[in-house]
Amino acid sequence: MDKKVTVVGAGNVGATAAQRLAEKRLCDVVLVDVAEGLPQGKALDLAEAAPIEKHDAHLAGTNGYEETAGSDIVIITAGIPRKPGMSRDDLLKTNSDIIKSVVGNVAEKSPESILIIVSNPLDAMCHVAYETAGFDKKRVIGMAGVLDSARFRTFIARELNVSVENTHAFVLGGHGDTMVPLPRFSTVAGIPITELLSKDRIESLVDRTRNGGAEIVSLLKSGSAFYAPASAAVEMAESILMDRKKILPCAAYLEGEYGINGLFIGVPVKLGKEGIEEIIEIKLTDKESAVLEKSADAVRSLVDAMALL
Ligand code: NAI
Ligand code: 2OP
Repeated sequence: MDKKVTVVGAGNVGATAAQRLAEKRLCDVVLVDVAEGLPQGKALDLAEAAPIEKHDAHLAGTNGYEETAGSDIVIITAGIPRKPGMSRDDLLKTNSDIIKSVVGNVAEKSPESILIIVSNPLDAMCHVAYETAGFDKKRVIGMAGVLDSARFRTFIARELNVSVENTHAFVLGGHGDTMVPLPRFSTVAGIPITELLSKDRIESLVDRTRNGGAEIVSLLKSGSAFYAPASAAVEMAESILMDRKKILPCAAYLEGEYGINGLFIGVPVKLGKEGIEEIIEIKLTDKESAVLEKSADAVRSLVDAMALL
């Protein structure tokens, strides 16, 4: 295949993303992990599924970075996931050290690549990646809004007993308890849910979306969600690889947009072959802006906390 994507972290999210990338016939995939044998074993297992799944994507697993050279996209899922009782922020120190070392290697081997960051705490890890890589801000993108919006869409579809395909939703802000689901911009067949559901029902779906990650953690008891997160990262990768120019909510480095400066936070962006080709500024009400600002404050305090680690 003429495109190459490296997935760093061959755990739950990384291996599932590798499977989806290959089975969608988007690219060759290199899986990287520190655990010896893990990326090699998963890549071989996935390759052995290829004759049945009918694709010719080449899959390789490695503990180093030589084979990743010249990747178009690098999806970074390396790190530790949440355990019950842990917040995403508890992962700060361990994962920031991991991201620094991973991104240092990635930037050296694939200096033209586009980074899709998945590791938590997401918005703070985007900062670490951006500073370590020294890439243009267009080429460092965080995955969270696509996942959070997909959760909101799922809950809306179930509530109204309609196809998920008819739903559209926007969840902006940081990937945490202060995320900002926007009911006014969340629709079913183009109709805002504010016209279809009562305030109370919307509030309950919004709450469930905010707690969507914790809900899965408490059910799984060890580890966190990975099927939907992998789908979300692959949707972003596909829009870039195929130059689809989809408008998706992603963590982007803001320099004044939405009145926020020098911070990664989830906003609608256009994703194409250059990475973030445009940040879409939608007009928010005063109340929505205040909630987004509160979410930005939460991200900013994590970024500040990292400076003290
Ligand atoms: P996992 O534990 O299944 O996999 C993580 C993998 O990273 C492990 O195989 C581990 O060996 C590897 N790893 C650790 N240090 C490494 C290094 N220096 N280089 C290469 N590989 C390294 O975890 P899972 O479930 O795949 O989650 C991965 C990360 O993604 C976690 O931080 C999790 O919180 C985050 N996440 C973020 C989401 C989002 O919406 N942004 C959604 C789901 C997960
Ligand atoms: C999630 O939202 C843990 O961030 C991860 O599922």
